[in-house]
Amino acid sequence: MNGIPSDRRDVAVVLGTRPEIIKLAPLIRLLGDRARIVHTGQHYDSALSSTFFANFGLPHPHLLLDGATGPWGRGAQIGSLTAELARSFVTDPPRAVVVQGDTNSTSAGAQAAHYCGIPVVHVEAGLRSGDRAMPEEINRLVVGVLADVHCAATEQAAANLLATGTAPERIRVTGNTVVEATLMSLPDPAERDRIAHEHGADGAFVLATVHRPENTDSPERLQALLTALADLGERVVMPLHPRTRAKVKQFGLEHLLERLTVTDPVDHPTFLALADRARLLVSDSGGVQEEATVLKKPLLVVRTSTERPEAVTAGFSRLVEPGRPLLDAARAALADTDLHDRLAGTASPYGDGTASQQIHALATALADRAPLPGAAPGR
Ligand code: UD1
Ligand code: UDP
Repeated sequence: MNGIPSDRRDVAVVLGTRPEIIKLAPLIRLLGDRARIVHTGQHYDSALSSTFFANFGLPHPHLLLDGATGPWGRGAQIGSLTAELARSFVTDPPRAVVVQGDTNSTSAGAQAAHYCGIPVVHVEAGLRSGDRAMPEEINRLVVGVLADVHCAATEQAAANLLATGTAPERIRVTGNTVVEATLMSLPDPAERDRIAHEHGADGAFVLATVHRPENTDSPERLQALLTALADLGERVVMPLHPRTRAKVKQFGLEHLLERLTVTDPVDHPTFLALADRARLLVSDSGGVQEEATVLKKPLLVVRTSTERPEAVTAGFSRLVEPGRPLLDAARAALADTDLHDRLAGTASPYGDGTASQQIHALATALADRAPLPGAAPGR
């Protein structure tokens, strides 16, 4: 390790939400003693945070911030977290900082590192929905400007970066770490059956998740979405994100949940077991769009745009509006008896499960000030 003591923890991995923990877990495991886990505290409930540390056998965060949650919104959260992270990076500078995805924690981590002169590795770089109303799209653009190494999951993501002027030598197409995270977490077939049974889902069922502001913060859209699921006439298992639970209560839509099998958020093996045993997935999640391609499951994406078009092109997912279009599309997918066989033979566009190994090599080379391994796109 170039003379760096093993307890130096010189690669800071900044994370703050459920999907960041899941997708960075394989990399953290590879980094071992070099990983300094910095948790912003954005997700603070154990069901969205410590559960996933336990799922992947990760150590507790080496630094845990308070999330800067509160009534002041995105600007205050990103600003406060950036300031706190910068203080930590000045006091005890890591040699590289890794951020993942597009959350407020991702933006704060990249900003703090860059302003402190520490090189930034962006995992899952180059996603673009083209929808500036999504907070995540703005976070992606900000991190895209700041990152020193962009780990694009697909050629399309690399092309998005090149189109915005990112130097090719700073880009690597690695695949998405969600592939290996999924393979690590997915229980064996007997356990999948047991978990489905435990959730009252023995026969055919649909698994649904919703948490995007475009769905949860509009009473009309949320009502249309939940009504379509309730009217489907199939069992719908729905682990409820706290944002969604709060909005259902605020808008007085609790009666619609009575027709669904609602649970608290579940851990990663449980979610994947349910997803694997479901006949159809319905979600506005980013990660679920990718996991569907590993599990070979059809997914209806209840969104107006997606930054993950590869899953649509490959035939795994389809964008739908909530309400009648969702109901019709779900009925059609459930009636399509060949769909599962078609998807079973379709490769995931998100890589072969080696993304974390490649990113490990890139992050440690950056920390060691060594040449970056791998080829730039188009070389
Ligand atoms: C955040 C990310 C989103 C990501 C999602 C993963 C941003 C802008 N959004 O959305 O990109 O897809 O995480 O799940 O960064 N809450 C709790 N307990 C918690 C955390 C949140 O009850 O542990 C509630 C709070 O009322 C909070 C609300 O959920 O106000 C939203 O949380 P927040 O982290 O702002 O956004 P998410 O919707 O979780
Ligand atoms: N997930 C989970 N339990 C749940 C719901 C989702 O473990 O109850 C996992 C899912 O497998 C995926 C990730 O959470 O890996 C997606 O997170 P989320 O939808 O919150 O965020 P996004 O991917 O949209 O940013």
